[in-house]
Amino acid sequence: MSLNAKKDVTPIADGFSRPNQTAPTDWSAYSSAYDLLSMHNPAYQALMQDFSAFFATIEVPQRIYDVGGGTGNYTEIAARAYPGSEIYLIEPDTSMIRSARSKLAAYDNIRFHNLALEDVKGTDACDLVICVHALYAMPEQMQRLGDLHRLLKPGGYLYLIDLGRRMNVADWRKYLFSELRRRHGLIGALRIFWQGREVAKQNKAICEAQESGTYWMHSAAELVSAVRNAGFEIISQKTVYRGYSDLLVCRAK
Ligand SMILES: C[S@@+](CC[C@H](N)C(=O)[O-])C[C@H]1O[C@@H](n2cnc3c(N)ncnc32)[C@H](O)[C@@H]1O
Repeated sequence: MSLNAKKDVTPIADGFSRPNQTAPTDWSAYSSAYDLLSMHNPAYQALMQDFSAFFATIEVPQRIYDVGGGTGNYTEIAARAYPGSEIYLIEPDTSMIRSARSKLAAYDNIRFHNLALEDVKGTDACDLVICVHALYAMPEQMQRLGDLHRLLKPGGYLYLIDLGRRMNVADWRKYLFSELRRRHGLIGALRIFWQGREVAKQNKAICEAQESGTYWMHSAAELVSAVRNAGFEIISQKTVYRGYSDLLVCRAK
């Protein structure tokens, strides 16, 4: 498999490359608090449980890509479940991938690639592509769905979760605070909220990028239609993440 970057990218210290672009969300700033709030967010935890349950429905995938893998939470579930498989975490943000590298250092079956999806080469290479809450933030999402399809062998699986609805920051703040307060009491909730304040800031940036049309907002039906147009068969579909996101399990035709 080739994971070479295209030419219009800047080499960086770790030998891989990332594109020259500024994202509406400061994913680097987000990375510092990402895992803290994710671990305290029952809606995020429910997504990870769904993902683990998905493995019972498929044969062992030999090669797996986690595209927009962030701090590596889905990569870790896959690496633990499939110690004999090759797992590639594809992530353009340097801070996000640094967190992933340090967290997952004990696994010898993970390769880290500091790249955006649009800079990943490789065709018919893998059995499973994971893409969770990243597609909406990518440029030209229809072409990116084509890229995800290109990476897969015919019959390979795409495990796709995408944020489709407007990120209502006040609603999430209320939800998370009440969950934290229930589990950790008022002082504990306030402390975690303060430590995770960057997440609220970046969620606001996500909302603004959605409203300006930079990030993709879609209904479940619109995502289904786009995924089908990219050459996938849809195996299952459900609304997740408190109604904000869609989960599609698909196979490449
Ligand atoms: C909300 S995080 C999700 C991280 C992880 N998948 C998870 O669910 O925990 C979105 C990630 O998408 C990444 N991303 C943004 N644009 C991308 C692109 N063009 N190609 C690949 N990943 C991208 C960001 O850097 C960020 O780490």
